[in-house]
Amino acid sequence: MIQSAPFPSQTLLQVEELRTHFNTPRGVARAVDGVSFQIERGQTLAIVGESGCGKSMTALSLMGLVPEPAGYIENGRVLFDERDLLDLTWEQMRDIRGRDIAMIFQEPMTSLNPTFTIGTQLIEAIQIHGTANGEEARRRAEGMLAHVELQNPAQVMRQYPHELSGGMRQRVMIAIALANEPKLLIADEPTTALDVTVQAQILNLIRRLQRETGMSVLLITHDLGIVAEMADRVAVMYAGQIVETTSVRDLFHRPLHPYTQGLFASLPARARRGHDLATLEGVVPEAVAWPPACRFEPRCPFRWETCARVAPKFQPAEAPWPTRCHLYDPEIADRPMRGTPRSQQQVARDLETAAAAAHTTEVAS
Ligand SMILES: Nc1ncnc2c1ncn2[C@@H]1O[C@H](COP(=O)(O)OP(=O)(O)OP(=O)(O)O)[C@@H](O)[C@H]1O
Ligand SMILES: [Mg+2]
Repeated sequence: MIQSAPFPSQTLLQVEELRTHFNTPRGVARAVDGVSFQIERGQTLAIVGESGCGKSMTALSLMGLVPEPAGYIENGRVLFDERDLLDLTWEQMRDIRGRDIAMIFQEPMTSLNPTFTIGTQLIEAIQIHGTANGEEARRRAEGMLAHVELQNPAQVMRQYPHELSGGMRQRVMIAIALANEPKLLIADEPTTALDVTVQAQILNLIRRLQRETGMSVLLITHDLGIVAEMADRVAVMYAGQIVETTSVRDLFHRPLHPYTQGLFASLPARARRGHDLATLEGVVPEAVAWPPACRFEPRCPFRWETCARVAPKFQPAEAPWPTRCHLYDPEIADRPMRGTPRSQQQVARDLETAAAAAHTTEVAS
């Protein structure tokens, strides 16, 4: 096993046993169902997994933005700078949003107001937290637009969202998100809607800003290529749970969970055709009906009788890092063969394919 890269011991965010559920006509949808992870200062954690696994709901839960009344946080702690965000009032949480924790989404058009200029929206984002006012706020807004590498910031200030390209809008969203120098940036599929060249530019921009400000990033993505490019650590999410979490290096060296292995197996096809993780057999079940024991069991190539009966532990004794699978549990007597670790060549090839997919065109910035 390769040693995890060392990282500072200072934890910015610690999520414990988070459960976010929805009441639906067909029963309770357990969208996020016992999720725990932490992010160190200045580090990037990627959450990766297929559609419907609970990635966005995890992020929205941290932001206090679970769609009510159907959705509610059933359980958990979200310790941010040692305060439990789940104990805060709406007003306290509103202060934290945009100031300490900022979020950018896949489609910036839906988060920008079409009826106001970029300048108005950016100045408001600065003023709302009282960090600057009047002419200073305007100057800072314009400075932020230059900072996210938009040409001619003075002109962009006067423009409306529909007058900008998708890539420019995402830059504006990043400027708004970073206007108050947050400690944590949550980026939910920030480049999915963009073409690969612009995607590479935006990812470079986020990395540069992270280096300059020391902020932490929670990055949500379908794309193992983006994980390889951007993240220090990774949490693989399936059916409302984290099924494997470790350093990016370890994960690419030796994915342990059959689901993670499936994600890697689907990588070359995805890279070739520009598709996402759809080449795994079968589909994610619905959140009202997760399988009762191991949730991946119906799709798992290694499954055997026990898997449908007994829920796997999060960290069985033979797994070097948390891996929710009986294959690594010596207490499970009837384990089948678990396959062999991937060769160094396979790992090198996958890293290359992944990076090529994320950065078809490397753009200097
Ligand atoms: N308003 C809602 N009511 C009921 N269930 C919901 C609601 N919103 C989300 N869910 C359920 O929560 C689960 C997780 O959704 P979430 O949006 O977090 O997935 P995701 O991993 O972000 O997927 P994607 O990659 O498509 O964005 C889904 O199974 C979905 O059915
Ligand atoms: Mg999502």
